[in-house]
Amino acid sequence: MKKSILFVCLGNICRSPLCEGIAKEYVKEKSLDFFVDSAGTGSWHIGEAPCEGSQKVASMHGIDISTRRARQVTKEDIKNFDIIVALDSKNLADLGAMGAKEALLLGDFGFEGADVPDPYFFKGFDGFEKVYEMCAICVRNLIDEYSE
Ligand code: 4NP
Repeated sequence: MKKSILFVCLGNICRSPLCEGIAKEYVKEKSLDFFVDSAGTGSWHIGEAPCEGSQKVASMHGIDISTRRARQVTKEDIKNFDIIVALDSKNLADLGAMGAKEALLLGDFGFEGADVPDPYFFKGFDGFEKVYEMCAICVRNLIDEYSE
């Protein structure tokens, strides 16, 4: 049966759209049956395109995330998604407070539980490649684990 995965960060403009793009690409490459989406715990950026650095680093890796638009995570998401993945421990705590008892931390899938750094306050493009690498490794490990 098709499984659904939701990646959740704070704004849904930097980290989780990147994970969504990476996951969709990986699912396609492996012909797996997953529905992939992303959302933010905050409401500030609803309707916005991904931040410039995330669009650029995704595009450098052959992934186009330019058309996706930010949305806020809902209680329905928490009920409906099979797998909910937080990008950092604050996102995980916020999801827990909304009732997501079994949400996962992305960093547990290859980075010893580390938080994926929030690139919103990075200066320029520096740091986005590191964020991309962390997301790419952990997203693939997570999907491998859940597709067994
Ligand atoms: P994201 O990055 O959670 O990776 O999308 C952020 C985007 C916006 C803000 C913080 C983080 N903000 O404070 O508006």
